[in-house]
Order: sequence, then C-alpha cells, then structure tokens
Amino acid sequence: MPTFKTRNQHFILDNEPIQIISGAIHYFRIVPQYWEDRLLKLKACGFNTVETYVPWNLHEPREGEYNFEGIPNVTEFIQTAQKLDLMVFVRPSPYICAEWEFGGLPSWLLKDANIKLRCYYEPYLEKIRAYYNVLLPKLKPFLCTENGPIIAMQIENEYGSFGNDTRYLEYIKDLFVEHGIDVLLFTSDGPADHMLQGGMVPGILETVNFGSAAKEAFNSLRRYQPDEPIMCMEFWNGWFDHWMEEHHVRDPEDVGRVFEEMLGMGASVNVYMFHGGTNFGFYNGANHIKRYEPTVTSYDYDAPLNEYGEPTKKYFLMREILTKHTGKAPLDLPKPIERKSFGTIEMTKSINLFDSLHQLSEPITSVFPKTMEELGQDYGFILYETMISGPRPKQQLFIREIHDGALIFLDNQFLGTYERWENKQPLTLEIPKEGAKLSILVENMGRINYGPLLKDHKGIIEGVHLDNQLLFNWTMYPLRLDNVNQLHFAKNPSIEYGPTFFKGELIIDKPADTIVHLDGWAKGNLFINGFNLGRYWEVGPQKTLYLPGPLLKSGMNEIILFELHGTKNKKIHFECN
Ligand code: GLA
Repeated sequence: MPTFKTRNQHFILDNEPIQIISGAIHYFRIVPQYWEDRLLKLKACGFNTVETYVPWNLHEPREGEYNFEGIPNVTEFIQTAQKLDLMVFVRPSPYICAEWEFGGLPSWLLKDANIKLRCYYEPYLEKIRAYYNVLLPKLKPFLCTENGPIIAMQIENEYGSFGNDTRYLEYIKDLFVEHGIDVLLFTSDGPADHMLQGGMVPGILETVNFGSAAKEAFNSLRRYQPDEPIMCMEFWNGWFDHWMEEHHVRDPEDVGRVFEEMLGMGASVNVYMFHGGTNFGFYNGANHIKRYEPTVTSYDYDAPLNEYGEPTKKYFLMREILTKHTGKAPLDLPKPIERKSFGTIEMTKSINLFDSLHQLSEPITSVFPKTMEELGQDYGFILYETMISGPRPKQQLFIREIHDGALIFLDNQFLGTYERWENKQPLTLEIPKEGAKLSILVENMGRINYGPLLKDHKGIIEGVHLDNQLLFNWTMYPLRLDNVNQLHFAKNPSIEYGPTFFKGELIIDKPADTIVHLDGWAKGNLFINGFNLGRYWEVGPQKTLYLPGPLLKSGMNEIILFELHGTKNKKIHFECN
C-alpha cells in the first residue's frame, strides 16, 4: 500500500524522500474533453503532481441534489491524472476562495439569513456533513492508501485570513477521518503571524501561500513548525482580473527566480495557477475590500498555460528550470489544439426581455421585495416590478441596497442604472398620469469569495422608496437564464433597446477552438447551444470570450446573447486570436 507522509523535514513517498512539484488545474474551469491535454502539458513541463479544489456549489446546486456529471465529474479528472501517473492533491475545503462564486459555498446556505459561515455553528456544520456524506465516499477509492493517486487533502482554505475558530477546523478534520480519509491532511495559510495562528490545527501539517519573498515566508512557517517539510501551497505566479481594472501580468523571469529559489531550498511547491481556465456561466466570484469588485469570466491568471491551454514563455522557462533541477529530460508536448477563425455572423432574430418574461420565469408576488436567496434563486438576474400611483411630481428613487447592478425602467422606458460600487445621485421620476409600472432588473455579478463580507445576498436587499415613501407589493421574476434555448424569437425583431435576447447561427464543418469578439455590444452573457459561456462587458479588461471547440458541433450552432444595453451592430466575430 503506497504511503505518503512527512519525516524529518521531508515528504516521504514509500520510504523515499520526495519533492512535490505540483500545478493547480481546476477541472471545473475546463471542458472535460481537454482535461487530459492540460494534464499532459503539466507533466511535459516536469511536474509530478496536480492540485485541485472541489467547489461545493457546483456539486450540490440545490440542497440535497448532487451533480457529478460532465464538468463536475471530479473522479474522472482524478482518474485521468492517475492514468498519466500524476499524484493528486485535493482541496475539498469546503470553502475554497479561488475567485469562485461565494468561495465555493452554495448560495442556498443564505436562505437562512442568520447563518454563520466558516465557524462552529451547528446549522452550517450539518450542511457540510450532509455534503461530505456524498463527496468523501466518492474520493475515498482514489486515495493512495487504496492504490489511488490522491496523496494529501486540505482542511478549509487560508482559514487564518478569515477567522480563529480552531474547533471548526477540527470538526472538518474529524469528518475526513470518519469517512476513512487516511492520507496526509494539511492546512494552508498566508505566512503572517495571525494567519498561521488562526489557521493551524494541532497535529496537522501547515503549508504557506505567497507569490514572492519565499525565504521570509518559509522562515515564518519554520518558527511555527520546525520539524516538518516546507511547502508553498499556492505560488502565485500571476493574478486574476476584476472588471474595470488593468489586466494582470507578471514577468516570467521574476517568477522563474522565485521558483528556482524554492526548488533550491528543497521546498515543495504548488504553482497557482498552472492553468487557470474559464469562469463559465455565472461562476465568477468577487472581492470587496474597499468596494465591490466582480471578477471577469477569464481565469487566465497569466499562468504558464494560458486560458486557451497554450504553453507560454513562463511555461518554457519553468520547464527549463525543472529540467536543470531534476536532471530529467522533459517529455514531449501533446499536439497543439486547433484554433480557427469561423468569420462573422449576424444576429438575425431578437426578443425584448419584457416580451419574453412569461417564457423564462414564473412570477412571485410579495409585499416586500425579496432577495434571490429568499426566493431560492442562485444565479443570474431578477426583475422586480411594482405599480406607482400618479399623478405625482418629480421624486427621487432610492434602492437599499442593490446587489449588484440594476437597470431601471418606467413603463418599460429606460431611466438609468444603479451600480453597487458607485455612489451616484439618485434617479428622479415623474408620473404625469394615473400610474406607471416601475421595473428594476438586478444583475447578480458574483458573490464575494474572500474576507469578512462573504455573506453576500443578491437582488434588492432592504427596500425601495420614492422620497420617503416605501413602495410595497412587488412582482418578481427570477431569471436564471438556464432555458434561453427554449425562447421563441419573433420573426420580425421587436424593440432592440434595453435588455434583449439576440439569436444567430454559426454553421461550421468541424468544431475547433475559437475566440468570440463582441465589438459594439455593451454588456451581457453569451450562450452557445444553451451553454452559458460567461459574461462580456465593454469596460474590459477582458474584451473577448474563449469558446472551446467541444462546445461546438458540426453543422448549425445556436448563439444567443442576452444584451443589457443594446448594440451598435448585430454582428459577432469568431477569430483565431
Ligand atoms: C488565496 C486563496 C486562493 C486564491 C488566491 C488568489 O490564496 O487561497 O483560493 O483566491 O488567494 O488567486
């Protein structure tokens, strides 16, 4: 039976000291058809291990309903790694951070407005227990103690950056043990004192996360844990992007220097990310330090393998460093994946959101506006409508609070927007006649995945008032947009301003990867054969969307855009780059 443990400041695999050289690749950010390709490239770079998180919200989308098929097929990913003779680190934490929606926690946890997260709070622990009753037995056959590739598993994630409830960490450890998880367990934290103090569990290996200053970080770890091996569980060699910010890049030479330094110290390393992939659908997270900052669709991360799975300069530099370090000749790279230009298509059909509501959603009425979570909605948009009596002169509209962006309409006429991160003057509205319909379309742009503001409800949080008069009696339309391929589009396009669905057809001989260019479009989501590829937004930094070939088919492919603001032209382009 293979064993992996620690002894005298070393990791020991089957009685031999081993240096773990691992790369983070998240199966949930890659189409399954490409898992093997990305893992082969990891191996060809000289790595011996792959690391992945396991996002709870993907696997238990609704309480008690589990999904392990397609992209969520985590055991198939692990088996693919095993086939390629890679070892696996798994982080089923259950909180993962990772710039992933709500740090991987399922939004249905927030249905209980009083829930306490990431601490020893029974109602929260019960939900973890129920999920682990399903997840852990699936992982168990793949542990190294069962001749599988999983050599170690993580408890929670950077817990010391968030809290100091060791009993909670012990509870998760005990759940692992109860389920027969008998491989090496570890935690990972930032190297600051309070982080190590808050995140460490007696008897459990601690690792550290950082992007530079390796010596200082390991010295700090050694002060707390003198007799164990040193490992950087997240070597941040790039970074992620928020909308409305610059794209992050990190100089490969600088990355190479830190990487080489760590290897030279005999440290084990997990390169975060080795290949970042894509936040498909509505799965991007957000940060909130000074203000709310949603993460973009791409999780390119400026990683050694870019979002398209192509080796970059950083890849080849790391490969060279590893060849020198291990003395082993690198393996050949697999054949490159074809990327093609399919030209331009015209979006010929359309239907306005207001005309398609009954096709997409069942309305719910309530005295107060309710949040998405209260209505059992996880992701997407929600439309709030109420009648306002008139006539009345100009009044100011206050919405407390909008999570995260809102488009406001009076009798379907666009009035303006509110955005969570902006402090702008309230809109004014005037009703010259008997009454008017107020509509507020709210977009969930991703729940916060890091820090004390983690509990991030979506929709209208408190209430809506005109001057000081609160508005009651609302009709709400949850819009998860998981059924847009069933929409009946009008033959003659309806109104094309404001939120509208546009449909076009891409006809191709043979699928290949391609890059979607959306010049002229403002903001929305793109669906390809019903699959939500993610959000586009003209503010950037991301300007295009990566469309992996396996999402296309030979012949006709249906493209739907949900565009919030309207377009300058009705064309979209499928390019090579
Ligand atoms: C932390 C988290 C990761 C990720 C990185 C930043 O280290 O543990 O999940 O969020 O930051 O990319």
